[in-house]
Amino acid sequence: MFDSESFDAHEHVCFFHDEATEARGIIAVHSSVLGPAMGGCRVWNYPDTASALTDVLRLSRGMSYKNAVAGLPLGGGKAVLIRSGEERLGDSVFEAFGEVVRQLGGRYVTAEDVGVSVRNMACVARRTSFVSGLPKQAPESAVGGDPSPRTALGVYLGLRAAVRARLDRSGLAGVTVAVQGLGSVGRHLCRLLREAGAALVVADIDPDAVEYACTHFGATAVPVDQILFQQVDVLAPCALGAGLNEASISRLCAKVVAGAANNQLRCETDGQRLFDAGILYAPDYVINAGGIISVGLEYLGETDARVVSTRIAGIETTLDAIFERSRTTRTPTHRIADAMARERLARGRCTVAARAA
Ligand code: NAI
Repeated sequence: MFDSESFDAHEHVCFFHDEATEARGIIAVHSSVLGPAMGGCRVWNYPDTASALTDVLRLSRGMSYKNAVAGLPLGGGKAVLIRSGEERLGDSVFEAFGEVVRQLGGRYVTAEDVGVSVRNMACVARRTSFVSGLPKQAPESAVGGDPSPRTALGVYLGLRAAVRARLDRSGLAGVTVAVQGLGSVGRHLCRLLREAGAALVVADIDPDAVEYACTHFGATAVPVDQILFQQVDVLAPCALGAGLNEASISRLCAKVVAGAANNQLRCETDGQRLFDAGILYAPDYVINAGGIISVGLEYLGETDARVVSTRIAGIETTLDAIFERSRTTRTPTHRIADAMARERLARGRCTVAARAA
């Protein structure tokens, strides 16, 4: 385990099983160098424990990098709750999960991820205060509630930066975008893109989600196994990860990949493949940071809407810089983002060491 690529020197990994509620899961703390390790909790029906472990480790490391590049005083962690079949996890399971988070004493702070709602987080909050993404205190509140609209906003701004850099177009009017996955983020992204005049091609395994996008955003539906290969300007992966790999990249027609999904590249080499194919890739953990910026600032007690908006707008500026450095140094964008994150983590380590001395 210690030598596996996904382990990557995690500080702490905790397996838990609460017999009373049958809550089973894993919490991974990759790094707390920059602050408490924060990252969402995912509920998924994993084929086996090894898959759940690999997923939580990859996601947790991604959170360290995401929080570092977003400039948040937070480390990186993640949790997975293992579901069997299609059963929905009850409130008691989230309370049991909250108890485990409480026992970690603030090393890990949780929030929503795939399969988890604001309501679920409210159940977690009955047992621990190390939780964010809670119901809004007031409808007009700048923080709180479902972070997906803010994730979608960050993706929209990042996608605009990528279109500017790769297609030399200042706006999105007439730009064609294929959106894979029309869940919480994908649906909001479609709305923003439509308002900006983009034309949408969409796919989802859920026919109702597809129908909604076609009816409300004038999208054209295509089968799920064809969405990646559409003749469009931009591909926006907003379902699950690892869709960009050796087999798929050679068949992509889009010149830009900019979407919300975490871990879009199956492996590091896939970033190089995209670069070699002339496809501009907006690194996933940079472009999808709107949600963590929102829940992170909520946890840190920020209440000013302007602060949250400015930080999310910063995603566009960060990506402008990454794309420019990629162009001038002829380096794939994912490498530049990784170097940026490592640099900030290394600076954080120096600060921690200096404080201890
Ligand atoms: P979600 O669960 O609400 O939506 C995912 C959608 O993808 C669902 O509608 C599902 O039916 C669809 N889907 C699953 N497999 C598919 C396939 N093979 N082809 C087409 N569609 C498929 O999840 P959410 O919250 O929208 O997140 C989407 C992605 O963005 C995930 O990878 C998540 O980790 C990432 N993300 C989400 C954030 C958030 O604020 N919700 C924050 C940062 C990243």
